[in-house]
Amino acid sequence: MPIKKYKKYNTATLIVAAGSGVRFGSSMPKQFFQINGMSLLEMTLVSFSRFCLKGPLVVTFGTGMEEKITSIISKIPWHGIKKVIQGGKTRQESVFNGLKYLESQKPDYVLIHDSVRPFVTREMISDVMEGAFSCKAAIPAVPVSDTLKKTTGDNIITETVARKDLWQAQTPQAFLFEHILDAHKHCMKNGFKATDDASVIEYIGSPVKIVPGSSNNFKITTPGDIKLAKAILTMEG
Ligand code: C5P
Repeated sequence: MPIKKYKKYNTATLIVAAGSGVRFGSSMPKQFFQINGMSLLEMTLVSFSRFCLKGPLVVTFGTGMEEKITSIISKIPWHGIKKVIQGGKTRQESVFNGLKYLESQKPDYVLIHDSVRPFVTREMISDVMEGAFSCKAAIPAVPVSDTLKKTTGDNIITETVARKDLWQAQTPQAFLFEHILDAHKHCMKNGFKATDDASVIEYIGSPVKIVPGSSNNFKITTPGDIKLAKAILTMEG
């Protein structure tokens, strides 16, 4: 059953899975990479299905992926409708396509998540939703712990950037639906490029709340990350 508190809201879940995974260096997009017989996309969707939000599930797909993604989502138990939507050339465009579809479903809130962050937890979804209830926009993030260097093109350090107040943004990012849709429309109109959805809210000058993220909630980007993911699964038993 959905968590009682969230039952009164229609909260859409938008998973962006249209990337081709160039940095992963494989012919197969990373969201289809399997660990213990389950693709990263399926692992991610299972994590969300356990939270049992009341609202639609939308997954974006890239060229040639529709059939595969449709088959993966058909296995996921979900309380609302499930829909696959063609993504765009960039993550930002994929999110925008998903949001435009969701307009017809009139959700109150939307959670937007990368398909390749399978270790999202119940607590994180709950925290980020609470953040969105209070601030209209919230994201999980972890404080930067390494010393940060800025370089010139030839890798010579020009500056050490103070890490105080610096955070690494993660997903799921949660928003009041109309707020994020309006912000995305505004950014598209003005040609503002964003690599996450909090940035589009920042662009329109509205606040975004940070809630605790987790180092396990990393974005699987390289083959080395797969080894780490396997180690986490082994530790979780
Ligand atoms: O490429 P990156 O690692 O930033 O992708 C983050 C997420 O955005 C992935 O889940 C990827 O599938 C998705 N994405 C997308 N459409 C794109 C590019 C990325 O849905 N055009």
